[in-house]
Amino acid sequence: MSSNRSSFTGKIGFVLAAAGSAVGLGNIWRFPYLAAKYGGGIFLLVYIALSLTFGFSLMVAEIAIGRKTQLSPMGAFRALDKRFAFVGVLGAIVPSIILPYYSVIGGWVMKYAYGFITGDAFNMAQDSYFGGFIGQTWEPLVWFALFIGITAIIVLFGVEKGIEKVSKVMMPVLVVLILFIAIFTLCTVDGALDGLIYYIKPDFSKFSIMTVVAAMGQLFYSMSLAMGIMITFGSYMKKDISIEKSTKQIEIFDTGIAFLAGLMIIPAVYAFSGGDPEALGKGPSLMFGALPKIFANMPAGTVIGVVFFVMVFLAALTSSISLMETVVSTIQDKFGIGRKASCFIVLGISIAFGVPSSLGYSAWGGVKILGLQILDFFDFASNNILMPIVAFLTCIFVGYILKPKAITDEVELEGNRLKHKKTFNIMIKYVAPLCILIILISSVLDVFGIVKI
Ligand code: PFF
Repeated sequence: MSSNRSSFTGKIGFVLAAAGSAVGLGNIWRFPYLAAKYGGGIFLLVYIALSLTFGFSLMVAEIAIGRKTQLSPMGAFRALDKRFAFVGVLGAIVPSIILPYYSVIGGWVMKYAYGFITGDAFNMAQDSYFGGFIGQTWEPLVWFALFIGITAIIVLFGVEKGIEKVSKVMMPVLVVLILFIAIFTLCTVDGALDGLIYYIKPDFSKFSIMTVVAAMGQLFYSMSLAMGIMITFGSYMKKDISIEKSTKQIEIFDTGIAFLAGLMIIPAVYAFSGGDPEALGKGPSLMFGALPKIFANMPAGTVIGVVFFVMVFLAALTSSISLMETVVSTIQDKFGIGRKASCFIVLGISIAFGVPSSLGYSAWGGVKILGLQILDFFDFASNNILMPIVAFLTCIFVGYILKPKAITDEVELEGNRLKHKKTFNIMIKYVAPLCILIILISSVLDVFGIVKI
């Protein structure tokens, strides 16, 4: 994998490719429901603070590790220190857990796009529609199969470049559309302004350790951190491109879209439910319940609904491709098998885990793992347990084994200067590992019901 490494041309190539992986369902579907659930403004504040300090340092470290070694995550850790090779392997397990349930949600998005195209907009705006849809056994499974199938075909034939090009044109359109929907809601829906306040004004009484746990898990997820993706991207990055600047651009892009998605969904949910905490804490179904209602009240709402869901589908697809690509290439590297075989193995694993995630809302509705629905369990296990472990080990590795200087030297190649060197050192060596440890312990205690936080 290390030989013949292609690299991104131009400065913007790297940022766009990394942003294509980063921007996806995490921003549009996951961020708004977490922000709504964990107190609105306070979640937003914690998220932004973490992104500027912690997310920044970790992303710089990962990209620099990749560029320094020119290797895939597993190879990179192994090359730098044999004892840490397992971190690369652990990192590769994360996307294999995410991909199956990500594709279940991707299937829901396809269903909604299809529904708007076939003129089902009125029905979809009804309260019971979404529950009725995921409560069926077969239909969600078919959409899931379609989504994962399309992802696999693209990865198998290696045509992701084409898709990425399409999505890069779509991305700005998506931003404009989200902004338009948000402004429309704020101007026309009664009570939406109260919802806006809920979303942007921090209410410190709503703060708890779980706010930080959720915000940090979301940060990893949204920025595709702690799973080797950024190491892979870094390995393709040219030496004369500024890691610091690129990281900032990716962060602004990723966080900006998440913020706008929250702006589009939270005030609407707040208004429709009169600020009912139960509606706000609804979780994974939040976006699917709220958006069709907004579209129903909008002039040309059906057309906008079609365009919106098709674009979200594309954003999800570029992310699922990069998830699958990582797992496929790791299996190829590790077991020395061909791309095709590896692709089929990953498809098999995804179906094996995706089917239960989907059935968790219907036939297997009674099954709970650690008190969580099956899909929520996979989400929790990857975001709140495995990713913090990988991030913690990465910090320890960079802070104490490799030493931050190795990273800052890499960042400062070709006359680039790392402006926030001090922050970086302190974050990586002390603040980040300590915070992650506290967070990891709290989420384990919480889920096992030892302490309710
Ligand atoms: N960052 C993506 C999102 O926010 O939707 C999810 C993701 C994609 C995570 C690719 C990891 C990854 F490798």
